[in-house]
Amino acid sequence: MPTQQPIGVFDSGYGGLTVLKEMVARLPQYDYVYLGDNARAPYGNRSFETVYQYTLQCVKWLFEQGCPLVILACNTASAKALRTIQQNDLPVIAPDNRVLGVIRPTTEVVGEYSQTGNVGILATRGTVLSGSYPIEIAKFFPDVRVYQQACPLWVPLIENNEHNSPGADYFVKQYVGKLLAQSDQIDTVILACTHYPLLKDKIASQLPEGHRIISQGEIVAGSLVDYLKRHPEIERRCSQGGDLRFYTTDSPEDFDNHASIFYGKDLHSGHVHLV
Ligand code: DGL
Repeated sequence: MPTQQPIGVFDSGYGGLTVLKEMVARLPQYDYVYLGDNARAPYGNRSFETVYQYTLQCVKWLFEQGCPLVILACNTASAKALRTIQQNDLPVIAPDNRVLGVIRPTTEVVGEYSQTGNVGILATRGTVLSGSYPIEIAKFFPDVRVYQQACPLWVPLIENNEHNSPGADYFVKQYVGKLLAQSDQIDTVILACTHYPLLKDKIASQLPEGHRIISQGEIVAGSLVDYLKRHPEIERRCSQGGDLRFYTTDSPEDFDNHASIFYGKDLHSGHVHLV
C-alpha cells in the first residue's frame, strides 16, 4: 500500500502542469502526483474510444499510487472520457474515489466574464467536436452564445517548444481570426486547452482591445478549494505532506527539459510504462 494519498493530476502531456501550478499555489499543504502521457500525446485529434482507453489507464495508475482524487487537467480527456469513467468505471474499480475534470468549473463561471453574452472557445479538435463547452455553458448560462474554433496545430507547436517562433505567430493569427470571424460580439475568449496559456500573449495580441482571455488554472484551483470544503470525506483522505512527484510515459529527461516552461520551476520526473 502506498504511504501517501496524493491528489492525482493527469494530462496528455505538459499542459496540465499549468493547472497543477495554480493548485499548488492555492493548496500547498497537500501531496500531489502528476502523470503526463507524453508518449501518446497529443490526444486532441484522437478518437473518443482511444482517448477514453488512454485516460482510464492513466487514472487507474494514479489510483494505484494511492490517489483518492484525480483531476483530469486536460480538456480533451475531460470532454471525451470523464463522464464514462465517472458513470461506468468508478463504481466498479474504485467506488470511493473521485475523478473531476476542467470543463465544468470553467463553464460554471464563464458567463460572469462576458458583457455581451458572446463567448469564444479555443480548443483542440476533440474538445470542439464533443460539444462539451456549448452543452455545459447552456446549463449555467442559457442566454450566452458560444462560438468554437479548433486549433489542431497549437498543441504540437507547444509540445515541440515552438510556441515563441514565427510559425506560432502564423497559426495563432489564423485560428484567432477564424474565431472572431464567427461574430463581432465575442468579448471573452476561453483558452479551453491547458497547453494554451503558453500562447496567451500571442493570442492577446490578435484580439481587439478590451477582450478578456480566460485561462483555466486559477479557475480550476479555486474550484478544487471549494470541492474539498464541500467533500470532507474526500479531503480527509488526501495526505498533507506538501510533496510533489512527477511522472511521464515518455523520456523523463525530455520531460524535465520541457516541463519548467509550463510549471515555472525546474522539476524531476520518473518514467511510467503503461501497456
Ligand atoms: N492539454 C490538453 C487539453 O487541455 C491537450 C490535448 C492534447 O493532447 O491534444 O485539451
